[in-house]
Amino acid sequence: MKIFINKLIPEIGMQILARPDIDLLMPENPEISYEEWISYCQQCDAILNIGAYKIDAKFFDLCPSVKAVSLFSVGYDQVDLEEATKRGIPVSNTPDVLSKATSDISFMLMLMTSRLASFNTNQVRIGVRFKYFNPIANLGQELYGKTLGIFGLGRIGYEMAIKCQAAYQMPVIYHNRNRNMELEEKLGARYVSFEELLNQSDVLSIHANYSPEYHGYFNASVFNQMKPNAILLNTARGGFVNEIDLDSALNAGKLWGAGLDVTDPEPMLPDNPLLKHERVCVLPHIGSATIEARSGMARIAAENIVAFIEGKPLNTCLNPEVYTNE
Ligand code: DGY
Repeated sequence: MKIFINKLIPEIGMQILARPDIDLLMPENPEISYEEWISYCQQCDAILNIGAYKIDAKFFDLCPSVKAVSLFSVGYDQVDLEEATKRGIPVSNTPDVLSKATSDISFMLMLMTSRLASFNTNQVRIGVRFKYFNPIANLGQELYGKTLGIFGLGRIGYEMAIKCQAAYQMPVIYHNRNRNMELEEKLGARYVSFEELLNQSDVLSIHANYSPEYHGYFNASVFNQMKPNAILLNTARGGFVNEIDLDSALNAGKLWGAGLDVTDPEPMLPDNPLLKHERVCVLPHIGSATIEARSGMARIAAENIVAFIEGKPLNTCLNPEVYTNE
């Protein structure tokens, strides 16, 4: 069968895909346009997809030969899952293997933001000379006993919470669409309304699944309800945060700082005023960028392709109802 993979993935995944019954199609230059991507997909039975082009009704209409989609990500916001399910097309993601790595980035951003690390590293890089040790400059804030608020408590939020509890004895509150009783009990976390999450969190970390109704959800009215010492962290999707409102809120002292691994657009444009802010730290979407996590993602994504080839259900299928609806 013909499989389209739009970018090279770590070796373990490429090895799993190296089978006589797989005819792998991969572009020489991974930076392909939407039209080029479609024309590759049109030739294939399934795709292993890395990237942001929408997999929606238009895609399925244009690429009727595609019968399975294996995503190289835990997030699946680029896929219209309802449409895929309606058409009986299984879609899989790569959960679990990146939870530790991504939550490390949340934790790192929390520390970097609380201690102005990104700004100060840059000061050193550009050669700003500190003439003397200034007792009232560069003051960060400590995290011991501060309240961690999680928006979207799942596997990554859980990993962030246990690090914060172990390092700084941080009490954990969370808000989800549906309560997660299992993780709530494991963490001793308290479920709160969204409003309480905003006005009680000292560190508010976003870990929810992104969907279009959340576009710009963290906006001026949200920032107005946060504590002036609060740090906002986002390692989920850039679309959650209205960056213009965030900049105004930071300038007005509505919240203290922000650590963002994801932005909208990506990469963040160099003239974005957030980049000038000393209490803002921005990373280029590196949550899962470790050898271990990316190898795990490659293995899962490739194994899902193999399952499809062998006529089995995808192992980490997001819409398993496609199999029971058959
Ligand atoms: C994920 O797996 O969703 C990461 O954010 C990479 O897109």
